[in-house]
Amino acid sequence: MFTVAVLISGTGSNLRALLEAATDPEFPARVVVVGADREADGLLHAERFGIPSFVVPWRGAAERAEWGEELHRQLQVWQPDLVVLSGLMRLLPPDVVAAWSPRLINTHPAYLPEFPGAHAVRDAIAAGATRTGASVIVVDDGVDTGPILAQERIAVVAGDDEHLLHERIKPVERRLLIDVVRRIATGELQLAPTV
Ligand code: GAR
Repeated sequence: MFTVAVLISGTGSNLRALLEAATDPEFPARVVVVGADREADGLLHAERFGIPSFVVPWRGAAERAEWGEELHRQLQVWQPDLVVLSGLMRLLPPDVVAAWSPRLINTHPAYLPEFPGAHAVRDAIAAGATRTGASVIVVDDGVDTGPILAQERIAVVAGDDEHLLHERIKPVERRLLIDVVRRIATGELQLAPTV
């Protein structure tokens, strides 16, 4: 079976959707471990689905390399075929990216290359964009610059604030993520080296 590790920082709603998808016997991948950089609320989803989890606490940018090494060691225990960053709000050190990319993908709440970074939804609203989107990419050494695997447009509508717009983006992200994982697992989608 094709195995997936998922890394999160927050509520893990996209993680939950992937866990639900993977309960379908027809789905070609299984989540084997969930990791986080803090005691994230989303770890509860792992517990509910009986999936092991680990936390490698973020201790500040000065210790990014050590943090990344520990994260890498934890992932290696599980030997996943794919690592999914699903709301992990930290940049991985380059050697960790090199170790896993292109089997390292990320969901992003914007239509990349528009609005990269940690505040994509806020930035789209601040820019007065009339449309934004959702993307799934391969992680490379840049900030949200890797090859795009799937993306879809979402309109920004009158009355949208960061929360409302993000809540409309997330269901699209989930659908794209589940489909990308399925296509990678079946071999329909081949990942090309990035670093
Ligand atoms: C998702 O929208 C994900 O794309 C975003 O965080 C959210 C996590 O939601 N990630 C980034 O912005 C990374 N730059 P969730 O914890 O409810 O799945």
